[in-house]
Amino acid sequence: MKPNEDIYQIIESIKANAALTDECAEGTPPLAYISEDLLEIELDHIFAKEWVCVGREDEFSLPGDYKTMMIGRDPVIILRDKGGILRAMSNVCRHRMATLLEGMGRLKSGISCPYHAWTYNLEGQLVGASYMRDNFDKKSVCLPQFSLEVWNGWVYVNLDADATPLNPRLEALSSRYQNYQMDQYETLFRAEEIWDTNWKILAQNFMEGYHLFVAHSKTIEPAMPTEMANALHGGEAYSLYEQGRIPGKSYERTTNTPIKNMKLTDEEKNKAVLFSIFPSHVVSVVAERTFWLSLQPHGVGQVRVLWGVDVFPGSIPDGISKENYAK
Ligand code: FES
Ligand SMILES: [Fe+2]
Repeated sequence: MKPNEDIYQIIESIKANAALTDECAEGTPPLAYISEDLLEIELDHIFAKEWVCVGREDEFSLPGDYKTMMIGRDPVIILRDKGGILRAMSNVCRHRMATLLEGMGRLKSGISCPYHAWTYNLEGQLVGASYMRDNFDKKSVCLPQFSLEVWNGWVYVNLDADATPLNPRLEALSSRYQNYQMDQYETLFRAEEIWDTNWKILAQNFMEGYHLFVAHSKTIEPAMPTEMANALHGGEAYSLYEQGRIPGKSYERTTNTPIKNMKLTDEEKNKAVLFSIFPSHVVSVVAERTFWLSLQPHGVGQVRVLWGVDVFPGSIPDGISKENYAK
């Protein structure tokens, strides 16, 4: 795509904003939220090259556990193979490009294409292809594999074979919040939905507490007021903010939730930590739960949201079922 003058101006304006110090920060230019040209650039240069969160590692507890997802324009399978390795691979059959798997589930042995029944093992290697000519070499066919990393229990996939690793970029974030033991939180709830806004609006909204005293005046504000929001300087790969919580108060439930994470200081028990791992994984962590969204554009006016809640072990109050707690 040949960028036109408008897109050039939008990008220059975004770059100029990014160069400002936090104290002088400006809003994103409005055209950035509605430009179809910018969306194409985002898909080519962000979602095809950066780390996208696809869920939590405990969603793939046994060999054969899989789920499918679009990453940018590419259909992807995330799968635990027979040897226990978590993999990401193309969800497109190498024969005539049929989609191999839908949704999520547990595979017994391998992947069977619904079109002509080519079969792949859990490592993505073609192992069965009926009626093919004698000199057809199955060993030469494998589903393209993508980079995958796990950070604090979240699983990230990158379509770019030359991507720089994710974990080293997040070391400072990991050590700052090591007491939270984020890798210990267990999946409680997961959903994938289309919401009606541009993906960047949602990412930015998640990362500010300024609107709490207005938009959430009766829900979040009494427990986590705007005046206790504290924007912090993030790192190269993330932004960061902390939200104070009035001790003992929670907007999420009426029952007193036990705090089982004994490593947390009193200060850590009474705040939410919110970070955005670029480009589009936004997370809120408190002592007893995480709440996070992984965002991808769905056109300029909609966003595909994979979102979840995870709980620290033992944090569901006695007498409440997992299902009711999730509600
Ligand atoms: S498209 Fe998959 S076997 Fe033909
Ligand atoms: Fe909000």
